Amino acid sequence: MSYDVIIIGSGPGGYVCAIKAAQLGLKVAVIERRATFGGTCLNIGCIPSKALLHASEMFHHAGHGMDALGVEVSKPKLNLEKMMAHKDATVKSNVDGVAFLFKKNKIDSFIGHGKVLGAGKVSVTGDDGKVTELESKNVVIATGSDVAGIPGVKVTIDEKIIVSSTGALLLEKVPEHIVVVGGGVIGLEMGSVWGRLGAKVTVVEYLDTILGGMDGEVAKQFQRILGKQGMEFKLGAKVTGVKTSGKGAKVSFEPVKGGDAQTIDADVVLIATGRKPFTEGLGLEEAGVVLDERGRVRTDSHYQTNVPGVYAIGDVIVGPMLAHKAEDEGVALAEMMAGQAGHVNYNVIPGVVYTSPEVASVGKTEEELKAAGVKYKAGKFPFSANGRARAMQAQDGFVKVLADAETDRVLGVHILGVGAGELIHEAAVLMEFGGSSEDLGRTCHAHPTMSEAVKEAALATFGKPIHL
Ligand code: NAI
Repeated sequence: MSYDVIIIGSGPGGYVCAIKAAQLGLKVAVIERRATFGGTCLNIGCIPSKALLHASEMFHHAGHGMDALGVEVSKPKLNLEKMMAHKDATVKSNVDGVAFLFKKNKIDSFIGHGKVLGAGKVSVTGDDGKVTELESKNVVIATGSDVAGIPGVKVTIDEKIIVSSTGALLLEKVPEHIVVVGGGVIGLEMGSVWGRLGAKVTVVEYLDTILGGMDGEVAKQFQRILGKQGMEFKLGAKVTGVKTSGKGAKVSFEPVKGGDAQTIDADVVLIATGRKPFTEGLGLEEAGVVLDERGRVRTDSHYQTNVPGVYAIGDVIVGPMLAHKAEDEGVALAEMMAGQAGHVNYNVIPGVVYTSPEVASVGKTEEELKAAGVKYKAGKFPFSANGRARAMQAQDGFVKVLADAETDRVLGVHILGVGAGELIHEAAVLMEFGGSSEDLGRTCHAHPTMSEAVKEAALATFGKPIHL
């Protein structure tokens, strides 16, 4: 069987690349080792976690946020089994959607383990051990990433007591105490889910801040809000051991700056200390495909590896491990393989943490601008001064717009607040078009909306916000 493009992996990078390539007239096949399409994101990542984040937020809101609005409800009762069924149904409809799109676009699929045999040759090994060889002008590695574990610490993840994000989506009961190792995106999202459902949550984080790499001011205020919600933090704490003990586990950690080691007991420990590129068993070494010093597939600016005709996109290459970054790379690569120009603007890739409130950012942080010696202006507007936010009891948080001091071009926007993950996109579009903060501040925004806070923060960079 011969194809124009064979893609190994059907996550957001792989499946989007496949659809786009098929839309552009190429003959496409996808190899996937899971029984369903969609990769980590749709099966055990973004989608199921959002289903649980939404459901747990509703549960928490029903119990805590309604009374002040004059809606008196009796104490909500948790039906965890039903909540999990909602999550599973959400996953099923999404993965079925990808299968439907493959059929619609006449994309062939092979379930099994894909292996690169060299330029133009790929094999698929099915669960029954049967090997099929396929030929293709182009081969795309879109195999994503896997749980990295704790650097330098041997931990056995049993997905029951010591869990990765996968097991954290499958707990059969609400733990009394969940210890989260790593105060990054996964830790805070999944910690929020179980915290809202009644667990005590302790986050142990190596750095002095949660969400390292995000805007420092946002991270600080966000931590205060999560603290008010009951989440506990041990910052500047290096986890040195995680071991099961009786029906639970013990987490050992020591202050990064030196000092006495401590242990905490937990019913469940979530290991959320990052992910690593997934390259095992793909035949990359035999095919001569070069990896970089961090185990990622090395590519040029056209996503081509050192082996002509073999490409890679998504979590398995350099850059943020985000589904939408992988999707955009998939589209760009499909366009290039079809002889068109493809491009990803890495300066404008939004990042969202789907907690309550949400955290969203696009472009540079203040810390990055300072480190690069860029002269910038910062404009800030709090949601407490926004009419719609008050009406919705969503006053926590703020919008920060960072613009070049000379040209006024917007360089970064950071939002902490309800709906931040949606609000950020007006900033992304503006930045994609090279817009200025004056462009943003002079754009008419509907009243009353949370979006007005974005406009007001832009106004604050070159003049004064109206409502402050
Ligand atoms: P992360 O890299 O965001 O955070 C890991 C944290 O663990 C870091 O803050 C690090 O300092 C800490 N850490 C490492 N070793 C430690 C130790 N020994 N003791 C204490 N703390 C330690 O990784 P995370 O949260 O596991 O996420 C993995 C990837 O998945 C990320 O690239 C993330 O962007 C992506 N993701 C994105 C989501 C989104 O966009 N909403 C949701 C979930 C995951």
